[in-house]
Amino acid sequence: MVDKQIFQDRLLSLGLARVSEAAAMASARLVGRGDEKAADQAAVNAMRDQLNLLDIQGTVVIGEGERDEAPMLFIGEEVGSGDGPEVDIALDPLEGTTLTAKDMPNALTVIAMAPRHTLLHAPDVYMDKLAIGAGYPQDVVSLDMAPAERVRALARARGCKDEDITVGILERPRHEDLISEVRETGAAIRLITDGDVAGVIHCAEAEKTGIDMYMGSGGAPEGVLAAAALKCMGGQMWGRLLFRNDDERGRARKAGIEDLNRIYARDELVTADVIFAATGVTDGSIVRGIKREPGFLETETILMRSKTGSVRRMTYRNPHP
Ligand code: FBP
Repeated sequence: MVDKQIFQDRLLSLGLARVSEAAAMASARLVGRGDEKAADQAAVNAMRDQLNLLDIQGTVVIGEGERDEAPMLFIGEEVGSGDGPEVDIALDPLEGTTLTAKDMPNALTVIAMAPRHTLLHAPDVYMDKLAIGAGYPQDVVSLDMAPAERVRALARARGCKDEDITVGILERPRHEDLISEVRETGAAIRLITDGDVAGVIHCAEAEKTGIDMYMGSGGAPEGVLAAAALKCMGGQMWGRLLFRNDDERGRARKAGIEDLNRIYARDELVTADVIFAATGVTDGSIVRGIKREPGFLETETILMRSKTGSVRRMTYRNPHP
């Protein structure tokens, strides 16, 4: 007989998929309307309402911001019905607000859940990120290597030429040097305009997405969410917080981080088994975006559990006025 606890855990994971679906559906009518804020707000409201129906004692550890800047889903907010397991929640109700407003690929709604005190309480600062898919020797690349060295090491491990490697990087002025160093190796670069949670996840499905390695800086909260996804799908990731001023260092200390230069490996960003759900808002290589048909909305959600390594893709067709 299946253990009741395991069954409850699985049911909860399905509940988590409903949470990310709800956020995506709420932002559907705002795709391509040029209004980032409205799209984000719609997703936040729906995600919070649905999350509060789950039988969990949840605490938001990665959320919309500090309590004084975000009225909903702020860091430290208690969510869920108040019954059930004590869990950490990391969420981004709309990862890629600009992608949504402009109807560009790979906007997602994202949520991850793990036992209490097992998700890094990353402050809202940048994180230097490096990720590769599964099947490589442990630590074959590292954040301490120069970008070109990472390409060469990965190519050696894959048994291919440097030019056969494709690296995903956020297109930002701060990445100009990084981009030219990678280009010098002959490797290809897929530049993305936003959405580095999807950017990192792409490495876990390299055959499908064509991305072998992701590198560069982006939001630290997004780094924890990406680590949760890779823990479920397989793949290695590292992150180091980056600070631009004392205020940002103060935020990290307030979040309980003592060693500000630490490099976190994937399993230090997410230290226990995690459940991860993401729903497509705009079309992407991981999941399809919301499809609007007269009277219906259709979403696609990826739901994963690191405990079992299960990856479920679900289509949801919902009557919608
Ligand atoms: P938003 O959805 O909050 O707009 O974030 C999108 C994003 O591209 C993230 O995926 C990424 O981590 C971060 O912004 C990068 O920040 P910046 O735009 O400052 O480079």
